[in-house]
Amino acid sequence: MKKNKQILAVLMSAFSMSVAAEVNYQVIPLPQQISIDKSGQYMTLAKGMTVSYPSGNPQMKRNAEFAAEYLGLTVDAPNNKKAAVNLSLDLKSDSPDAYSISVSKKGITIRGASESGVYYGIQTLRKSIMNEPDEARLPFAEVSGTPRFSYRGAHLDCARHFFPISFVKKYIDILSLHGINRFHWHLTDDQGWRFEVKALPELAEKASVRPRTIIGKNIGLSDPDNSIYDDTPETGYYTQEELREVVAYAAERYITIVPEIDMPGHMIAAMSVYPYLGCTGGPYNVWGIWGIADDVLCAGNPKTLEFLKTVYSELCDVFPGKLIHIGGDESPRIRWKTCQKCQAKMKELGLKDESQLQSFINKEMENFLSLRGRQIIGWDETLEGGLSENAAVMSWRGYEGGKTAAKLHHYVVMTPTGNCYFDYYQLRNRDAQPLGIGGYLPLSKVYSMEPVPEDLTEDEARYIMGVQCNLWTEYILSPDHVEFMLLPRLAAMSEVGWLQPEAKNYEQFLARLPLLEQTYRRLGYKYCLTFE
Ligand code: ACM
Ligand code: ZN
Repeated sequence: MKKNKQILAVLMSAFSMSVAAEVNYQVIPLPQQISIDKSGQYMTLAKGMTVSYPSGNPQMKRNAEFAAEYLGLTVDAPNNKKAAVNLSLDLKSDSPDAYSISVSKKGITIRGASESGVYYGIQTLRKSIMNEPDEARLPFAEVSGTPRFSYRGAHLDCARHFFPISFVKKYIDILSLHGINRFHWHLTDDQGWRFEVKALPELAEKASVRPRTIIGKNIGLSDPDNSIYDDTPETGYYTQEELREVVAYAAERYITIVPEIDMPGHMIAAMSVYPYLGCTGGPYNVWGIWGIADDVLCAGNPKTLEFLKTVYSELCDVFPGKLIHIGGDESPRIRWKTCQKCQAKMKELGLKDESQLQSFINKEMENFLSLRGRQIIGWDETLEGGLSENAAVMSWRGYEGGKTAAKLHHYVVMTPTGNCYFDYYQLRNRDAQPLGIGGYLPLSKVYSMEPVPEDLTEDEARYIMGVQCNLWTEYILSPDHVEFMLLPRLAAMSEVGWLQPEAKNYEQFLARLPLLEQTYRRLGYKYCLTFE
């Protein structure tokens, strides 16, 4: 760990290069249109100037507060057309996230197709002037942007390592700076349960505690008993009160949380406190190693569905978003093959193989959650025994799963390892980075991602809702390391989510990156200084 910290310190040491860029509105993600007025006129934002907003809309009042904070202004009374900056909702667009910015002798007007669009307009202006906020000269201009995809996600695994609420909020701030609008929160796994379930208190009290963790790199060791472990317990869970606070914090920034309770695999932490949930009855211990466990929830025991309904019911109480992530990845069926209860269930339902047993659980959960107005989304393994009727799919093992799902007219988020796994190394030289899980995902490869497979028809392509980057934390212990893995690759992902393919240009993106990096430094974000 010591070496890791030293490397991080070197890579992150802020250097004080001053980028003397003129305000040109060429931020990340790049607006679709930037028309600078040929007159050469400009306005200068100065302290004492104000920002106004339409009355009677609390979200617009909050947007005005964000604008004041980000641009160094003061919030005015509503409906004051004389304010230097006016926020408005009168933009017409099919995308609620569309925005426009007009800078003229009348001042600055930021228009949105909805409140979120106004927020993205404010962020664009903020990133434009971040260099010199006190003396930014804004040329008269018309600037506008519309995202390509409605789902622009980023994921964080808080099960393998626990990150406090204060950092989760910072993570959300970073996402919002990049125009990301979904936060996929991985809350449970073999190595720790982080979601308080009031009806099942042992989950938070005991399943959140991992007494020890294997040292160094491993994946599913064959001899865990003879391995070397640290003696530092990894603990922590989020109370429902804290989670509601984060939901509200994210919502103000137009980010919807997609919470994940991963099942039927990745459940050993829960099984350690409720061993009857496993086919063998245990005993089980919160896992101190990484990899894929053979022990999963017993699909033939009615108590398993009862458990899941209790958990997801409380999950719905806390998280209001439409999508509920049921996991579904990496769930071996080896225990099901020899479990009397599982085999009896297969017979009762007339199922052909164990993959259909997983689909049976998923369908039960789909029905349960649809009564609460929710839609399930799962990793692409959920396709294997047959997708349930309205399930959405997260395609991670490449693009194939997503393609199959789109052809079946199921909604898809593309998050293939080859373009989207931010736990992979970002530099070729492994000695220049802290220990990681492996792989190689440089900035350029993130940027090159095309989420819509070529051979989908136009109708099928409509089912590709968007993209997401994933940050698994087996080897990521600190908030600084999370930020280092996230930035600047999130900037590339931001343009994948926002820009039409013909507007993407990696060289131009790299030319725009220093301005955003200056913003990172101003905001105290850690990032990888070099990229490939
Ligand atoms: C996954 O990376 N196991 C979804
Ligand atoms: Zn079983």
